Amino acid sequence: MKPRLIRPGVYWLGAIDWNRRLFDALIPLPDGTSYNAYLVQGAAKTALLDAVDPAMEDVLMHQLAGIERIDYVVSQHAEQDHSGAIPTVLAKYPQATVVCTPKAKDLLVDHLGIAPERIQTVEDGETLDLGGKTLRFLYTPWVHWPETMVTHLVEDRILFSCDFFGSHVATSNLYAGDDPYINEAAKRYYAEIMMPFRKMVQRNLEKVRGVEFDLIAPSHGPIYDHPVDILAAYEDWVSDRVSNSVVLPYISMHGSTKKMVDYLVAALAERGVSVQLFELTTTDIGKLAMALVDAATIVIGTPTVHGGPHPNVFSATHLANALRPKLKYAAIIGSYGWGTRAVERIAELIPNLKVELLDTVLCKGLPNAETFAALEALGDTIQAKHATL
Ligand code: FEO
Repeated sequence: MKPRLIRPGVYWLGAIDWNRRLFDALIPLPDGTSYNAYLVQGAAKTALLDAVDPAMEDVLMHQLAGIERIDYVVSQHAEQDHSGAIPTVLAKYPQATVVCTPKAKDLLVDHLGIAPERIQTVEDGETLDLGGKTLRFLYTPWVHWPETMVTHLVEDRILFSCDFFGSHVATSNLYAGDDPYINEAAKRYYAEIMMPFRKMVQRNLEKVRGVEFDLIAPSHGPIYDHPVDILAAYEDWVSDRVSNSVVLPYISMHGSTKKMVDYLVAALAERGVSVQLFELTTTDIGKLAMALVDAATIVIGTPTVHGGPHPNVFSATHLANALRPKLKYAAIIGSYGWGTRAVERIAELIPNLKVELLDTVLCKGLPNAETFAALEALGDTIQAKHATL
């Protein structure tokens, strides 16, 4: 992709990674991603905001072929998908200075071996005049790492938001418009990347609300030309509101836990409670993370393997704990062969979830009338709890 003009003297650069399917060896990327960089040319100085993932630095360097001088490389975030190509950019532009937060300086030195004498740190709110274009830096810790900042291009009313408001989606469209597909990708991104830091995201959202901008230009995914939509979506996601819905990740080895799950799904549906079901040998964990953004309750369905939950349930529960969703209730259901400590093991896995643990429903072997009655009672409990949301 060639550089694309956003405003006079302001260009999108970067790489669209159509084929990447896994991020950080963990996060599924069903729609690929992009590593956006931006070039801002003032009357006196030129700045590059962010670089790209090192795997695609040749794309960025090709785009910079005709750019004779870069004075500042603004590193908004030290993670490699934004900063990995900075050493190559610095080698091409020996006069360029890296601009970042003090915390980012340490990380850029440690992770990328950038010489400290080439780095200039900025304070929160500090500005840099490029000549008719003013960059104002705002610390936004924990979106995504503790060192992260965003950059406001004052005259052009653009907020360069780095990971904040990003979406892992590869598209040839420069702008998001009102495409619901982008909103879905942004929710997935929030769930996977931002949700563990929800309270910090809330604070940073308030902070950028005080900035005047017409465009939000993140470092992943398209530019928001109607920022009101993504801002409203974030307001909802970071709020304390939960919905009348249950997330139900489960595994069944011999069919008994599946019978229980199916029964409970029907019972909840009859009671007007929405359920999202995730069979953990096949599910996309990104979809599970998205469902956790505003669900009120998680019900974990597991058979017992070597005394504890199935390893896939163990992994999904560990993930849910790490993502710190705003769940209010949790329950465990499942079948076991002759004995179980699955409930104790699962309870140990979720210290971050501030949930009330509802009744457990376990059965030995096949579920029977007593099991189904217990599931009906669990459905009643969930319905009653959700009625108070
Ligand atoms: Fe896009 Fe935190 O990296």
